[in-house]
Amino acid sequence: MDVKVTDIADTPTGFIDDVIEGLSKKPKTLPCKYFYDETGSKLFEDICDVQEYYITRTEIKLLEKIKFELSDMIGKKAVIIEPGAGAGRKIQNLLETLDSPSTYVPIDISADFLFYSAEKIKHKFPDVNIMPIQGDFTESIRWQGNQEQRNRVVFFPGSTIGNFTPQQAESFLKNQVKLVGSQGALLIGVDLVKSNERLEAAYNDKQGVTAQFNKNLLTRINTELGGNFDLQQFSHHAFFNEEKSRIEMHLKSDKQQSIKINQQIFKFEEGENIHTENSYKYSINSFIQLAKKAGLKSQKYWVDESNLFSIHFLTP
Ligand code: AVI
Repeated sequence: MDVKVTDIADTPTGFIDDVIEGLSKKPKTLPCKYFYDETGSKLFEDICDVQEYYITRTEIKLLEKIKFELSDMIGKKAVIIEPGAGAGRKIQNLLETLDSPSTYVPIDISADFLFYSAEKIKHKFPDVNIMPIQGDFTESIRWQGNQEQRNRVVFFPGSTIGNFTPQQAESFLKNQVKLVGSQGALLIGVDLVKSNERLEAAYNDKQGVTAQFNKNLLTRINTELGGNFDLQQFSHHAFFNEEKSRIEMHLKSDKQQSIKINQQIFKFEEGENIHTENSYKYSINSFIQLAKKAGLKSQKYWVDESNLFSIHFLTP
């Protein structure tokens, strides 16, 4: 492949340090970014297809509906930057619609997914310059980019912004403003608040794919860090915390037990949780207010006909 990957991950991932720090806290936590090894990324792709998880298909349908309008708003020769590009499903649709897009910059922590997506895009869009960056998009990314300063757009679909706390989301948005510059824009997919039943079903699918995705964190600790978690002794637990407007995912210890990781012992009470993920849900207004704090103006937003999901076009 003639696509060159820029590696900005100049420090090791810090997995072991983050695990020890998180499991030493009360309540215990683990950062959700570690879900996405190869297995976890594939499981997430499967989640996107389960019936209860409305997010992906609703967003794809909405993007399809607004694509010509978006193309007009974005304009010619755009540079599209996609943090956490993953398998790059939605970008293809967008690139197809835009008027002669100049460059695509996927950013992902997983080199495999990055190569896979870059190769696919290069094949389908031979005229688009592909500049992949391997790195952790939750950190500030310094990218000088190409000469093209105009029409830089950060595309951040899937409501991944909901996996940040509102404070983290604000600083993430501020970092994206630095990437696109004063003449750029941000296109962000944001999941909306809705009934507890609908939300909780989406994170407790009947097939148990989300449970496997959650438990994959423990498998990673076992295989990569020499941990001895017994996956049978932990249960997936997800619920909507109304006060904080977020889905919380936890792994609940089904009994009192001790786990050893890298010579350290971690004690669990029966019923004790490891908090593994938050997925914040916004109203249109609460998201626009958040964007405003990050110095962004809402140019337009779109909502699907069932009021499940929103897409926001923001400019600095
Ligand atoms: C990637 N992110 C937006 C997903 C979400 O809905 O918060 C991750 C996920 N966790 C459980 N299911 C999906």
